Amino acid sequence: MKFDTPATTNPIDQLKVVGKSTDRIDGPLKTTGTAPYAYERHDVAPNQAYGHVLGASIAKGRIASLDTSAARAAPGVLAVVTAKNAGKLGKGKFNTAKLLGGPEIEHYHQAIAVVVAETFEQARAAAQLIRVDYVRSKGAFDLASAKSSAVASTREQADIAVGDFAGAFAAAPVQIDATYTTPDHAHAMMEPHASIAAWEGDKLTLWTSNQMIDWSKSDMATTLGLPKENVRLVSPYIGGGFGGKLWIRADALLAALGARAAGRPVKVALTRPFMFNNTTHRPATIQRIRIGATKEGKITAIGHEGWSGDLPGGGLENAIAQTRLLYAGANRMLAARLATLDLPEGNAMRAPGEAPGLMALEIAMDEMAEKLGIDPIEFRILNDTQVDPEKPERRFSQRQLVECLRSGAQRFGWNKRSATPGRTREGRWLVGMGVAAGFRNNLLAKSAARVRLDRSGVVTVETDMTDIGTGTYTIIAQTAAEMMGLPLDKVVVRLGDSAFPVSAGSGGQWGANNSTAGVYAACVKLREAVAQKLGFDAATAEFVDGKVRSGDRSVPLGQAASEAEIVVEDLIEYGDLDKKYQQSTFASHFVETAVDAATGEIRIRRMLAVCAAGRILNPKSARSQVIGAMTMGAGAALMEELAVDKRLGFFVNHDLAGYEVPVHADIPHQEVVFLDETDPMSSPMKAKGVGELGICGVGAAVANAIYNATGVRVREYPITLDKLLAKLPSVA
Ligand code: MOS
Repeated sequence: MKFDTPATTNPIDQLKVVGKSTDRIDGPLKTTGTAPYAYERHDVAPNQAYGHVLGASIAKGRIASLDTSAARAAPGVLAVVTAKNAGKLGKGKFNTAKLLGGPEIEHYHQAIAVVVAETFEQARAAAQLIRVDYVRSKGAFDLASAKSSAVASTREQADIAVGDFAGAFAAAPVQIDATYTTPDHAHAMMEPHASIAAWEGDKLTLWTSNQMIDWSKSDMATTLGLPKENVRLVSPYIGGGFGGKLWIRADALLAALGARAAGRPVKVALTRPFMFNNTTHRPATIQRIRIGATKEGKITAIGHEGWSGDLPGGGLENAIAQTRLLYAGANRMLAARLATLDLPEGNAMRAPGEAPGLMALEIAMDEMAEKLGIDPIEFRILNDTQVDPEKPERRFSQRQLVECLRSGAQRFGWNKRSATPGRTREGRWLVGMGVAAGFRNNLLAKSAARVRLDRSGVVTVETDMTDIGTGTYTIIAQTAAEMMGLPLDKVVVRLGDSAFPVSAGSGGQWGANNSTAGVYAACVKLREAVAQKLGFDAATAEFVDGKVRSGDRSVPLGQAASEAEIVVEDLIEYGDLDKKYQQSTFASHFVETAVDAATGEIRIRRMLAVCAAGRILNPKSARSQVIGAMTMGAGAALMEELAVDKRLGFFVNHDLAGYEVPVHADIPHQEVVFLDETDPMSSPMKAKGVGELGICGVGAAVANAIYNATGVRVREYPITLDKLLAKLPSVA
C-alpha cells in the first residue's frame, strides 16, 4: 500500500481497540519470567557451549604478539578464535570499528578473542590465560582538545545558513552567547548484549537481542561473507536497547565464529563491565549557542554550533538538529563539526541529536528569557513558528507546541513560580520550577507484515518488527483487532524473526507508527480476501464482533478460512508527504526541584510532560514510554557521565555502580498528558512517535528548575552538587 495522500476516515478511526489504555499482552510472560530472552534460549539448539570475549587493554595501537596456547590447553576449552584464525571478515554498514579487532586495535575493550568452552566459568578462566603484548600508539581522547581540528561530517548536513546571522546577531539589542557541554552517555539497558549462534552447513541462525532485524541480518552476512539469505536472526524479546542494539555487536559475531570453530552452538553474553567500552555510547558534545532578539523578545538571529567526536569513519552527535525547526528567526547559522577521537565507538542513543541538543538549546532559551525579562514560556510562544524556518512554504503537519506549553503551565501551577531565582525556600530546601520545550522529528520508513486467518477466527500477525520493551506486541494486536473486528484475544502477534516480512524495526521513535501502518496495510488486504471468499463486496463489508456483515447477511470471520487458512502480506510505503509537510512531535516538560541550601543536594520533586505526538495508539504503553524517557532525562541532567581517562583512552566507570542511572528513589511523581491529535500526514494510523520525545527537553527543564531554585547556572552536565556548592546563596 502506497501512502501518498493524507489519510481519510478508515477502520482505525472506530477506536474500539486502538487508542484504549491496554495492558501489554506480553506482560504475563515478562512478569512470570517466561519471556525467552536471547541468552536463555536453552531449547533452541542442543549442546550449547559458552563463549567468553577478551577485549583489548589498550585504546589504540596493535597487537605485537598473541599467545593462546595456554588457553587452548585449559580444561573444557573447545576453541579460541582471534582475527588470525577467524578467516576473512568484512565489516557491516552500521559498524564503525571492527567487531573483532587485531592486529590493529581501534579502541579500548575492542574484542580480540573469544574462548569457547563447555562451561561459562571454563571459558572465562581460559580467556585470562591469553597472553597479549601490545604496541601502544598515541590516541586522541579529549573532545575539548580535539575540537579545533574538528571538520564537517560527510554524513549529515554540516552547515546551514539563512539570512545574515553575523550581522543580525551583532545588531540585536539583546544577546546571549554561551557554551554548554554534555558528557558521553551509556545506554545501560537492563539486558546485556547476548546471542546464541548455531550453524547448519553454511547457514547461520542467531538468537539475539536486536532492535533492527533486517539491518543486522545484512550486516551479519556482510561481516561473515555470506549471502544474506543464509543468515536468520531471531529476537522476539529484548530487555531494552535505547539504540545500543540497533546493530550487531561483538556477542553476535563472536557467537557465530565460536560456533563455527567449535562445531557446536555457542552462546555469548557481554559482561556488564565489558559493555561500556566494547559497545557504542552517546558521544559527548560541546555546543555554542548565540541568540539575538529585539527588546520585545522576537528572535532575529539564532546560531548553534555543535562539536562531537568519533572514531575515524564514524558520525556526529548531531546536537544542532532541533534548532533548525523549533523557533522562528530570520537569520540562522548552524554548524556541526566532528573530531576524530579514539574512544570507543559513538553512535545513536535515545533521541540522538535532539536529546543533547535540547539540553543546551533549552537552557539558552531560559537564559535569554531572563535577560529579556520575559516569562520563559511566553518567550517560547512569542517565537513559535508554524512553518519550517529554512523553507517557509513548508508547514508542519501538526504543531501544538504552544498548546503543550500553555496547558502544561496551567496544570503544573506555573503561576506560583517566582521569576526571580533563589526566592522560594521551604526549610533547608531552595525550591524552583523549570520548563523546556520538547521536540523530535517523526520519521517514515516502509514496513511489511503478513497476516493469517484461521478457521477459528484467530488472526496471526507476523513481522520482523521488534518489541524492545516499548509495547509493540500490544499496539500491533490492537491494530489487527481493530481492522478485523476482533477482540484482542483473537489476535496472535509474532515478532522479531527475519523469516517474517521486513518491518521498519525499532529505532528513532519510528517503530510504532510505521509497524502498525504495515499491519494496517496487510489487514486491508486480508479484509479484501475474506470478503471475496465470502462473496461480499469488500468496500461495504463490515468487520464487527468477530463477524463479517453486509446488508442483512452476517457470517463468522473464521468461516472465510473454513477450507484453508487465508494468508496475505503487504507493506506500507510512503510518497512525499513528509517532504511537503514537516512531521515532528512536540512536548513541554515541567520540573520542580529542591536544592539543599547547605549541601547542594538536588531532588526532583515533580515532573510533567505534555505531549502532542499524533494519535496515541495505547495511552498506557505510551505513558510508560514517556515516563521512562523522563527518567532517562533526569539521569542525563543529574548523574549520567562516562568518565574519560584522557591518558589511556577509556571509560573508567564501566559498570552500574560507577555509571549511575536514576533509581526509584530519585524519581518523584511523574505526570504525562497527551494532547488530542491525529496526524493524517503520518500514515493511515495518524500516529507519530513518542518514545524519544519523552527525553527531549527534560535535562534542560531540570537545569532551569535548579537555576530558578538557586540562581546558579550550570552549563556543564551532569549538574552535580559540586558544581553548585561554591555558588549557592549564603543563606544556609
Ligand atoms: Mo534509537 S537511539 O534509534 O533506538
